[in-house]
Amino acid sequence: MTDNGQRLSDKSVLVTGGTRGIGRALVEKFAREGANVLFSYVSSEDAAKTLIDETETEAGQAVAMRADVRDRDQVDQFTETANAKFGGIDVVINNAHRPYQRKWFEETSWDEFQRELDTLVKGPFNMIQSALPYMKARGNGQIINISSTMARSPELQHSFYVTAKNALVGLTRSLALELGQYGIRVNLVSPGPLETDHNAGLPKELMKQLHAETPLHARMATCEEVAGAIMLLTLPEAAMVTGTDLQVSGGQAIF
Ligand SMILES: NC(=O)c1ccc[n+]([C@@H]2O[C@H](COP(=O)([O-])OP(=O)(O)OC[C@H]3O[C@@H](n4cnc5c(N)ncnc54)[C@H](OP(=O)(O)O)[C@@H]3O)[C@@H](O)[C@H]2O)c1
Repeated sequence: MTDNGQRLSDKSVLVTGGTRGIGRALVEKFAREGANVLFSYVSSEDAAKTLIDETETEAGQAVAMRADVRDRDQVDQFTETANAKFGGIDVVINNAHRPYQRKWFEETSWDEFQRELDTLVKGPFNMIQSALPYMKARGNGQIINISSTMARSPELQHSFYVTAKNALVGLTRSLALELGQYGIRVNLVSPGPLETDHNAGLPKELMKQLHAETPLHARMATCEEVAGAIMLLTLPEAAMVTGTDLQVSGGQAIF
């Protein structure tokens, strides 16, 4: 911790999909804690600019870059930029996600499965392989993959999402084992349903049910609360934590 109380001064943090929701909360949180943050987006350029402006007074800095996680060349440019700007890479947070409509499995095409796998599995694959040489050069680093409680506690009409998130669980656990030799920790964070603009559109009855199912405070967690839990994993106190799955659901799903 610095004299100013920032816990992550000069750490270099990459966040995929930083313009909304959890990603946006992560950018704000890490910049407040003194980190240098590079975040990606695909189409929300205006939102990226606004976020950069809003974090200007924070101790750390936030920088954005259009970089589609599905495209290895764009991802390589993203990690090269972070390394050049910040002198290395300490933390990679694989968060990017595309909103989707719920669908019965019988009505779902393979292309729809593939689209989910591309963002949620190929994206983290690209990011991790691309960032790895920089992390190995430092002899430490952290990878945090954002999953969902739905991976282990599926709900109806999300088969493509649940399948992709479970592949991410496998990738995380395998890499926690393989990358430990380089001092790199790899963990999952699994949020439950969240208080987001997107979820605000859920039917009132479902919202009521989700609140009633949540033992802590009878409400859904916020993106800021998820970002706070993610940050805990990056602190020196978590130096021996790897291969874990941190649930942030207020107890709505427990496994
Ligand atoms: N929200 C929830 O209730 C909830 C619950 C459990 C788990 N999660 C998980 O938490 C993570 C974040 O969810 P969220 O709801 O906060 O997300 P979100 O609000 O939908 O934001 C997604 C972000 O990802 C970016 N993005 C989309 N496709 C991309 C791509 N191919 N390459 C790079 N960036 C891309 C978007 O940028 P553009 O707008 O520019 O495309 C946006 O910044 C996801 O992994 C999700 O599965 C969410």
